[in-house]
Amino acid sequence: MRLLIHDNYDQASKWTANYIAHKIQKSHSTPENPFILGLPTGSSPVGIYKSLVEMNKRGILSFNNVVTFNMDEYVGIPEDHPESYHAFMRKHLFDHIDIPEENINILNGNAEDLNAECNRFEEKIKSYGGIELFLGGIGADGHLAFNEPGSSLSSRTRVKTLATDTIIANSRFFGNDMEKVPKTALTVGVGTILDAREIVVIVSGYAKANAVYHAIERGVNHMWTISALQLHSKSMVVCDEDAVSELRYSTVKYFKDIESENIKKHKDL
Ligand code: GLP
Repeated sequence: MRLLIHDNYDQASKWTANYIAHKIQKSHSTPENPFILGLPTGSSPVGIYKSLVEMNKRGILSFNNVVTFNMDEYVGIPEDHPESYHAFMRKHLFDHIDIPEENINILNGNAEDLNAECNRFEEKIKSYGGIELFLGGIGADGHLAFNEPGSSLSSRTRVKTLATDTIIANSRFFGNDMEKVPKTALTVGVGTILDAREIVVIVSGYAKANAVYHAIERGVNHMWTISALQLHSKSMVVCDEDAVSELRYSTVKYFKDIESENIKKHKDL
């Protein structure tokens, strides 16, 4: 598992956006053989989406042959609710790029049969031959998508009850009113994420430093689902300086040394 430490959030975001753009371009995808990209919501990927939109507007990156699968969605709020993940993705990415509408896949948190919806999502991912690159963010408790502490590391897409910590954290988007935050969500499983051919997770800020410590320096443990990345053959955490505050000095030095050339790459396309 790789750890790329950037000076700040902006640099981490730009680097990751360039990295993803490079992967899409290199794939020479076609409508018959599209690039399959997994995507997250939350504040962490916003900088990446901004850069991807800019590249698309400059005409150097197209999403015409990209098919996306989002990680999760709340249960029971309308798709046009400003805090639904459908609305989030439209606002930050899909409304501004050339992706065909039919290439966008987001779980339907209002489906009559939620279990059937989760199975349909898994089957659709399979029908494309799996996800090429899954981009993710994490919560302060190390959750990936909505795989809260204690989630099985081989879990698949399913209905999940949100942890109180997550409800508190996400209440900032619901007028700081915990009562307005949905209590359940549909989420891809840790196993679904681990099936992707590559996983890239962006993390920033002191609030996530303990989760990064558990991801990098401690063992694989279901109480920190991010630590499952250690089991993947091609995964990386891209972060800023604040996010590595809980790591040992020697760990930080080690990853900075080993990634020094790679950090210089993907500056621009
Ligand atoms: C939610 C999402 C996660 C996201 C997390 C962190 O719980 N389901 O996918 O990683 O929030 O969000 P933020 O990036 O805003 O800290």
